Amino acid sequence: LWNFAYADRVFALDEARWSSAPGDVEILFLAGDAYPAALPDMTQAAHVALTTFRAETLQYAPDRGLPELREWIASYVGEEGVRITANHVLIVNGAKHGLDLVCRLFLNPGDALAVTSPTYMSALRIFQGFEIDLIDIAQDSDGLIVEDLAERLRARKRIGARAPKMVYNVPEFHNPTGLTMSERRRMELVALAEREGLLVVEDDPYRRIRFEGVPVPPIQSFDESGRVIGLGTFAKIIAPGLRVGWVSAEPEIITKMVGFKSDGGSCPLTQRMILEYCKAGRVDSHVNELVKSYSLHRDVMFDMVTTQLPGATTRKPEGGYYLWVQLPDGMDSERLLSLALAEGVGFLPASWFYPNAGPPNYVRLAYSYCSPEAIAEGMRRLGRVFRRVAG
Ligand SMILES: Cc1ncc(COP(=O)(O)O)c(C=O)c1O
Repeated sequence: LWNFAYADRVFALDEARWSSAPGDVEILFLAGDAYPAALPDMTQAAHVALTTFRAETLQYAPDRGLPELREWIASYVGEEGVRITANHVLIVNGAKHGLDLVCRLFLNPGDALAVTSPTYMSALRIFQGFEIDLIDIAQDSDGLIVEDLAERLRARKRIGARAPKMVYNVPEFHNPTGLTMSERRRMELVALAEREGLLVVEDDPYRRIRFEGVPVPPIQSFDESGRVIGLGTFAKIIAPGLRVGWVSAEPEIITKMVGFKSDGGSCPLTQRMILEYCKAGRVDSHVNELVKSYSLHRDVMFDMVTTQLPGATTRKPEGGYYLWVQLPDGMDSERLLSLALAEGVGFLPASWFYPNAGPPNYVRLAYSYCSPEAIAEGMRRLGRVFRRVAG
């Protein structure tokens, strides 16, 4: 056998974790996949893309993405109060690709980055490749506690530790907790970022999947000095499989980022399909349908937490894809998972979401993918396992 001379960063990867996701679980509360019955019909858009736009869609794409799509995105986020032009937009292969590029552009080994604890597990996986320190910041019902971040900065200064370069957050329907950061906290974060010279990375895939309540303007809409980098995606509003997302940032940042984009341009076929779909004015009505479906999914799952998991608690998120459930004290989410998998139910245990150490008694249940009937059946099975573990 070869003894492969892997780079040092490979040894930081928790390989067992990433290769252990079961592929044949019958009922999945695991991943933030789209509800199959709610995927849009893209046949017409694909047809136009492959006929009218054949010379464009079967060719290499412009490095920054299709200009018209970049303009569409600038006006789409403009509806939320983010004042940008197409020059601020880079098309990428999903928001995660955008995050990877942000890291490439700004992080050296040994740098520090602040994240909420818990945070999005795939972001943690990306950060692992950059040999950096993660500083975990507390949250409450108003989202990331900016004063906690400020205190951590002061504490690091006192001991001469490196200040973090960036803060990464999912402010709207946070993954995994479902929390939304208040407007006041968003403004405080931008002010702190300016004072301390921090970048803020705002990962905002779920903003339009709002079931109730009042939308909070994006962090980027409060930014006057270009310190906020936005990550957006069509994964949650059209289809995750098309792999089209965007980065919105100062044109200078976008220009540098293009230099690290090694994919030969994101796929022009899927970009054109999305653009045709958007130009036909279909996004808003499709999102309305998604909101109806997912709010029903959430209600079914939320109600069944109370009836099936006695002693567990969760907050009802106003949007997004997930319930973050606190199990009774002493219950280990990994043990619950191993028994649940045998019953055909999957979910993600607490440890996936904590940048450093965290409590073991939390689970993330995704309600997006399963039908209401499958959610009900899965929750009944989970309830049986839960009672065995509790008993
Ligand atoms: C916080 C967060 N960011 C980004 C994404 C999606 O990224 P992508 O566009 O790469 O599919 C998700 C999907 O689960 C997410 O939860």
